[in-house]
Amino acid sequence: VTDRNVAGTPHLGRLTTSFARAGVTAEIVTIEPGEAAKSWRGIEELCERILALGIDRRTVIVALGGGVIGDLAGFAAAILLRGLDVVQIPTTLLAQVDSSVGGKTGINSPQGKNLIGAFHQPRRVLIDPTVLLDLPGRELRAGYAELVKHALIRDSGLFEWLEENGPACLGGDVERMTTAIARSVSVKVEIVSRDEHEISGERALLNFGHTFAHAFETQAGYSSRLLHGEAVALGMAAAYALSVRLGLCPGQEAGRARAHLRAAGLPNRPAELGLAFPPEATLAAMRKDKKVAGGQLVFVLTRGIGMAELCPGVPEAEVLALLAADA
Ligand code: GLY
Repeated sequence: VTDRNVAGTPHLGRLTTSFARAGVTAEIVTIEPGEAAKSWRGIEELCERILALGIDRRTVIVALGGGVIGDLAGFAAAILLRGLDVVQIPTTLLAQVDSSVGGKTGINSPQGKNLIGAFHQPRRVLIDPTVLLDLPGRELRAGYAELVKHALIRDSGLFEWLEENGPACLGGDVERMTTAIARSVSVKVEIVSRDEHEISGERALLNFGHTFAHAFETQAGYSSRLLHGEAVALGMAAAYALSVRLGLCPGQEAGRARAHLRAAGLPNRPAELGLAFPPEATLAAMRKDKKVAGGQLVFVLTRGIGMAELCPGVPEAEVLALLAADA
C-alpha cells in the first residue's frame, strides 16, 4: 500500500524488484496522498480493494510511505481477516523515527485526530535513511523535531551527540543520520515495550510537546502553514519554558534545548513562522485534547535534558501567562 507521490519515486520499483527476486507475489494498491485518506471512507475503500485481490491469512500488508500510509495500511492490517501481519517501510523522517514504530494505527474522526484505531505491532520496520535524500528540507527538519523529542524525553547522551552532529545529519550525511535514527528509535522502543497500551503513563511521555502542538495545529487548520513536526518543535520549546516557569527545570537546560531546535532550523515561537495564536484560544483547544484527564490539563513537562515527566494539575493561569510571554 502506497500513495501516488511515493509511487512516482524509485522506491516502489526497488521494492517490487526485490519481491520479484525473492519469488514473492505482490500487488500494489496506490491511494491518493493526504490526510483525508485517514477517514472511515478511506479505510473502507482500502479494505475493499485489498479484499478484492483475494487475500488469505498469510497475506502480509506492506506500508510504503509516510505517516498517513503507515497509519491507514496498519489499521487495514489490524482489521482485515481479523488481523494480518504488517511490515512498515517508512519514507519520511517523521514516520521513520515515530509513527512506524510502536504499533499505533488508525484514522481520524470529525471529533478529532486518531480517535479510531487499533494497536497493531508491525512484524518488521524497514528503515532506509537514503530515501530521506529526496525529501524537501522543510519536511526533513519537521521530522527531526520528533527525532530530537526522544532525546529530550529520555536520552541526554543522544542529545549531546545531536548538538554536535545534528546539522550534518540534516545536511545529508547518511551515516550519521542512520546513527541518529537508530538511537532515537531505541528510546521509543524502550518506552513502548514498557507501556505498549499507554496504561501506566510512560508511553504518554512520547507526547512531549504535543499538548501545545495539537492546540497550535488546530488553530492553523492542520495545513501546510504549520507542519506537525514544526508544531511539535513549538510545543517542546513551550514545554521547556513552562517547566522553567514552574520551577521544575533550570533555565540553562531549557536554553540548550531551545537553541538546538533553532540550530536545526526549527522554530521556538509561533511568531517566527509568522503565526499568532491568542492564548485563550490555545487554552480552549488544549481543554479539548485527549490528554485532559478528569477535567485537568495534563502536560508532559521536564526537569532537564532527558528528564520528561507527566504533570497533571498545571494551573491554567500559568499556561496563559507563558503563552502570552512566549508568543
Ligand atoms: N507517537 C506517540 C506514540 O506512539 O505513542
